[in-house]
Amino acid sequence: MSNKYDELLNRKEAAKLGGGKDKIEAHHAKGKLTARERLELLVDEGSFEETDMFVEHRATDFGLDKQHYPGDGVVTGFAKIDGRPVAVFSQDFTVFGGSLSETHAGKIVKIMNMAMKIGIPVIGLNDSGGARIQEGVDSLGGYADIFLLNTLASGVIPQISVILGPCAGGAVYSPAITDFIFMVKNSSYMFVTGPNVVKTVTHEEVSFEDLGGAETHASKSGVAHFINENEIETLLNVRRLTGYLPLNFMDKPVEHNFDFSSLKPDERLNEIVPDNPNKPYDMKRIINLLVDDNDFLEVQAGYAENIIVGFARLGGQSIGIVANQPSVLAGVLDINSSAKGARFVRFCDAFGIPLLVLVDVPGFLPGTEQEWNGIIRHGSKLLYAFCEATVPKVTVITRKAYGGAYDVMNSKHVRGDFNFAWPTAEIAVMGPKGAVEIIFKKEIAKAEDPAAKVEEKLFEYIDKFANPYIAAERGYIDDVILPKDTKVRLVNAFALLKNKVDKNPKKKHGNIPL
Ligand code: HXC
Repeated sequence: MSNKYDELLNRKEAAKLGGGKDKIEAHHAKGKLTARERLELLVDEGSFEETDMFVEHRATDFGLDKQHYPGDGVVTGFAKIDGRPVAVFSQDFTVFGGSLSETHAGKIVKIMNMAMKIGIPVIGLNDSGGARIQEGVDSLGGYADIFLLNTLASGVIPQISVILGPCAGGAVYSPAITDFIFMVKNSSYMFVTGPNVVKTVTHEEVSFEDLGGAETHASKSGVAHFINENEIETLLNVRRLTGYLPLNFMDKPVEHNFDFSSLKPDERLNEIVPDNPNKPYDMKRIINLLVDDNDFLEVQAGYAENIIVGFARLGGQSIGIVANQPSVLAGVLDINSSAKGARFVRFCDAFGIPLLVLVDVPGFLPGTEQEWNGIIRHGSKLLYAFCEATVPKVTVITRKAYGGAYDVMNSKHVRGDFNFAWPTAEIAVMGPKGAVEIIFKKEIAKAEDPAAKVEEKLFEYIDKFANPYIAAERGYIDDVILPKDTKVRLVNAFALLKNKVDKNPKKKHGNIPL
């Protein structure tokens, strides 16, 4: 009997070597961790239980019949993060460059199907040369099987993609369908076609890094949600993200203990909004003072920085925050910030994570560039997302809430549950100067001293509209509060809303403007 046990142990040891010692050394020499080392860092110690370790490809063309590696280039299984279950796969670059074969895909599909049945997140560690070229259409079919499951699982379980090497061709589309993409600076790449193809087709000379590196996708394309300096930091950050998420759309995120008796006014909040309404300030200072332990996990921090999105805890509850950033482009809403905000709102709504919305927005960005590229289409994504969201939604207007952006940013009219304003709030159809120049155009033109007339009318307009009280008189604002009391009010509001129930009409699915 012991021979049989030994055989099993030997087989398992062989499978753990992936493409072999030489390939592992070459991989390490590039400063990269192996598929198994990465898993060890990602999940709780000793919690990983592997599946399909002995699966091998069945291809025979191009000499593949002589090259077999147990596991076929991907390590799959189930594990725990902070004691909560997750399904994981980790592609092994030492086996055919981590390329995806029919059986490699089958292993991923198998854990995804299981994850959906039991309702747990899937985390994929991607390091792959794409479709296994020798397998032709079988590998393409394997990708399509994964894309289908990514789509079916969307909104059912959280899906997280971590890019730890090349990710080329159609392979980028699986991560793109998932909820969050992590990348590592200087070692992970995502592109539909690589630099060589780009050169042939468009004659552009571009490096891997510039075309599809972490910095590019974190700042220019918005494809990456998180970037980190190295693999270790990246994997620890994945753990941090999962802490804010439920296991599935019917589960609730873990609630932390919170000492309600510690709640008290915070005078520092009274000092942040400048007296001059045109002066910028950093909304992140407000966020950090409001959230528990000053701990805010920002998502897409380097992309469309005029809107801030991310996760935090308030009164122990996991919440999503969407906030205008007055220190970048005055916090204006444009194409990129609208799409960024909308996707985040939809994620939170899909997974029952309450939303806190902090508003200081002068409106939508004017101009031909924005109009011709579809600010109407993209801006309406954010509007649609807030309208559709049924999770607890609380808004605080710190300063400007002008025009359509007032409506969009979780106003009462789009089902904001509690809408607060600071005394510095200005709720109006547009900013004072633009408004005065339009509605008093004739009077100004006729005036002996047009500049004085503008001043006089500005004063009149500001006196009437640059405050929160007209909105509060109509009940569009539930209360005007002192900044220092905001945390107390928010914690109480989210606690009250914990069991909120709201529904949208029955339908197959809506048609968000894409
Ligand atoms: C089979 C592959 C492979 C692939 C790499 N390898 N990619 N084997 N199919 N797609 C093998 C290599 O032959 C090599 O094997 C080993 O993996 C390591 O590859 P290297 O090239 O030596 O490594 P490196 O220099 O680091 O370059 C990595 C790379 C490059 C950038 C990923 O290999 C590359 O460009 N590969 C092809 C990428 C690609 O075009 N894929 C198809 C995309 S189309 P040995 O035995 O020598 O160690 C696609 C369609 C999906 O994915 C469609 C879905 C809709």
